[in-house]
Amino acid sequence: MFGFQLLSAASVLLLLLLTAHGAIPPPEDAARMARFVLHACDWGALATLSAQEGLRGYPFANIFSLSDGPPGPLSGSGVPYFYLTDLEISVQDLEINSNASLTVSLAQTPYCKKHKYDPQNPLCAHIIFSGNVVKVNDSEAGLAKKALFSRHPEMESWPKDHNWFFAKFNITRVWVLDYFGGLKIVTPEEYYSVKPYRSVTGKHETGMLLGLNQPIALELFHDFLCPEEEGHIGAQRKLNAYLVYFMKDVILQIMTCTLTSVKHN
Ligand SMILES: *[C@@H]1O[C@H](CO)[C@@H](O)[C@H](O)[C@H]1NC(C)=O
Ligand SMILES: *[C@@H]1O[C@H](CO)[C@@H](O)[C@H](O)[C@H]1NC(C)=O
Ligand SMILES: *[C@@H]1O[C@H](CO)[C@@H](O)[C@H](O)[C@H]1NC(C)=O
Repeated sequence: MFGFQLLSAASVLLLLLLTAHGAIPPPEDAARMARFVLHACDWGALATLSAQEGLRGYPFANIFSLSDGPPGPLSGSGVPYFYLTDLEISVQDLEINSNASLTVSLAQTPYCKKHKYDPQNPLCAHIIFSGNVVKVNDSEAGLAKKALFSRHPEMESWPKDHNWFFAKFNITRVWVLDYFGGLKIVTPEEYYSVKPYRSVTGKHETGMLLGLNQPIALELFHDFLCPEEEGHIGAQRKLNAYLVYFMKDVILQIMTCTLTSVKHN
């Protein structure tokens, strides 16, 4: 009985491993790819229309730290948040014309190097958002702060007298370059209607067999298989924490079953 339970536990583990392996969305899933790439990135190139003397009228691409939510596969909101100050040259452009483009690429993660994809290779997926940059209101600022400060702890110590504020990229169109055959266009509605990671409903029951919290189990195996995406928060530490959580559930479940079968006999 006990051996059988361990065996089925092992097959559930295998199943979860296989499920989590498809973490990168397929090219036909352009909206999900856009969400996936944004969530994997900690920064992007923001292009404004320059209003600076000597640069006026030129596109001006500059680097900004961003975040759409704390690290981890379940926390991506899809909204690129920024922490900005009026002293910044590009922010001065935005005050005159808030229209902008934002580019993020898997080249910023270890993924493309690992697969030997040149950054210009479409398989090294890159996403270009067009729209405008807007200040967020007080209620959304809490979300923005959590998203940004969890990935960019240095932000907390940036000089207070610079009057930092939270802003977001208001997405009008998403341009996805993740495969051969040209750009794919995704609307904001399509973009916000998906999650960065494919849901695994159907596998739910299998997860429940183990009394396992399914999203946490998936996160565990995702981190385990793709530590490069979680490098910044210490995949190992997180893995250990989840293993403890996981083992607790497995043991509890086995104990419950054993007690039940003892009662029945
Ligand atoms: C910003 O872009 C929109 C199109 O999305 C355009 O209608 C508008 O005129 C642009 N604003 C400025 C100030 O150029
Ligand atoms: C703040 O902005 C969010 C997102 O745009 C919106 O849903 C919310 O209603 C706004 N809250 C207030 C108090 O204006
Ligand atoms: C956000 O972008 C939409 C176009 O997609 C535009 O109509 C709207 O005015 C923008 N919001 C702000 C606050 O600029």
